[in-house]
Amino acid sequence: MKLIILGGPGAGKGTQAQWLCGYLQIPLISIGDLLREAIAAQTELGQEAQPYVEKGELVPDETMIEFVRQRLLMSDVSDGWLMDGYPRTAFQAEELDFLLDDLGQKPIDGAIYFKVSEKVSISRCLERSRQDDRREIIQRRIELFYQRTIPILEYYEYRQKLLTIDGEQPVTQVQQQILEKLKFL
Ligand code: AP5
Repeated sequence: MKLIILGGPGAGKGTQAQWLCGYLQIPLISIGDLLREAIAAQTELGQEAQPYVEKGELVPDETMIEFVRQRLLMSDVSDGWLMDGYPRTAFQAEELDFLLDDLGQKPIDGAIYFKVSEKVSISRCLERSRQDDRREIIQRRIELFYQRTIPILEYYEYRQKLLTIDGEQPVTQVQQQILEKLKFL
């Protein structure tokens, strides 16, 4: 199974992605975590991504597309995966479909979208202590989410792959809703 997880900052993507990967026994590809690891290790990708991530900006599409291509070529993800944090732009969404086709793999099965209000996004991020969780940076991440990511929901809805989840419910209720909606895929 191939799933992607969409949602704004603090929507619960990382929280639910970890649980769902355990439940479905599929590997997790967390793009945000991979970027933070690359920054900590100061790899070439890390050095390129750092100024964007620190300001809450999106890393350029070309860089992300190549990064995801390299990741999907690895053998541990040949049978399925769950990707958290990618795609985030219409271009990335289209390119992901092309990439899977190019790799001779089936398209994604579903896109799980956690819907939360701006207020909840902000308060959850402020309760953590990640470097990009300062108020003005969170605000910028939210702005970009509305500008660049919300439009791709339509892309998946049109393909009947969008599962919208109320991300403001308690964690276990979110999990229940995911399992119910996955039955329709
Ligand atoms: P990324 O790490 O993906 O950040 P994000 O999208 O802003 O998401 P967060 O990690 O803040 O939130 P989350 O939805 O995972 O919530 P979580 O489960 O942690 O990306 C970071 C940066 O990398 C981007 O800003 C960008 O610069 C760059 N980047 C990444 N992907 C890119 C791409 N494709 N293209 C270009 N650039 C890219 O939960 C948050 C908190 O809420 C936690 O404390 C959790 O315990 C709590 N919580 C979760 N669920 C619930 C619940 N149901 N009820 C109560 N509390 C909850």
